[in-house]
Amino acid sequence: MSIPSRKDKPAASSATPETYHVSGPRHVAIIMDGNGRWAQARGRPRLFGHHAGAKRVREIVEACPRLGVQYLTIFAFSTENWKRTQVEVAGLMSLFRRYISREMQALAAKNVRVRFIGDRERLDAKLTALMDQLERATAGNDGTQLTIALNYGGRDEVARATQRLAVDIAKGRLNPDDVDEETLPRYLDTCVLPDPDLVIRTSGEARISNFLLWQSAYSEYEFIDTLWPDFTEQEFARLCDKFGNRDRRFGAVKL
Ligand code: IPE
Ligand code: IPE
Ligand code: MG
Repeated sequence: MSIPSRKDKPAASSATPETYHVSGPRHVAIIMDGNGRWAQARGRPRLFGHHAGAKRVREIVEACPRLGVQYLTIFAFSTENWKRTQVEVAGLMSLFRRYISREMQALAAKNVRVRFIGDRERLDAKLTALMDQLERATAGNDGTQLTIALNYGGRDEVARATQRLAVDIAKGRLNPDDVDEETLPRYLDTCVLPDPDLVIRTSGEARISNFLLWQSAYSEYEFIDTLWPDFTEQEFARLCDKFGNRDRRFGAVKL
């Protein structure tokens, strides 16, 4: 097994003093939370909230070029979300299939490149076929780089990466002495992506729920009360703007 090259990977967040003041986030990752509570507040089933949440995605993806966001990564389903009722899980899987089929053309036409991260093994074949199709249909696009985390868990990702790394060591393709902070992320699902600059979580919960554990080591965080189906371009713009006014020191001392 050959490991992916980081040749095309944009520079990670290894800031130098010149990069302390960045204008806006280049990579934003969003934990889209609060669909269930949004539906509950309207006396509707949780899936009604998930459908409303899926509709929000289009507006946020389309806002990215206007806000200078080149990479958008969204958390759609976690490795822990299988613990929900069978009705909710099946409804979500069917929603993902429908979303991909419905949005395929628009995403391709809008120059969006879509990638999926997470473990595909547990997903049904119909869904993974659609995911492959969407990745292929948008592979030549160089506009917004949209990554959808589906059956994704940060710990699961590190465990799967470690398995592949161990195989490379066992087969003599990798020397244990060469395993360092540059080598390990080449085995992660996000190997071609820069680390997120800003992570947003909606719905008022101040936790990361197993999202991008390795990659968000130096990300800025925004925990906002808005429920995901109510999240708008205006609020997204406000958070990107606020990010531009933060000093990111990456452990150094500001000169
Ligand atoms: C986030 O909304 C969507 C998924 C996890 C799939 P929730 O379904 O977690 O909504 P709340 O947190 O129960 O309101
Ligand atoms: C995180 O939200 C996962 C997604 C948004 C897909 P959850 O609602 O599953 O997280 P917890 O259970 O509140 O930690
Ligand atoms: Mg939730």
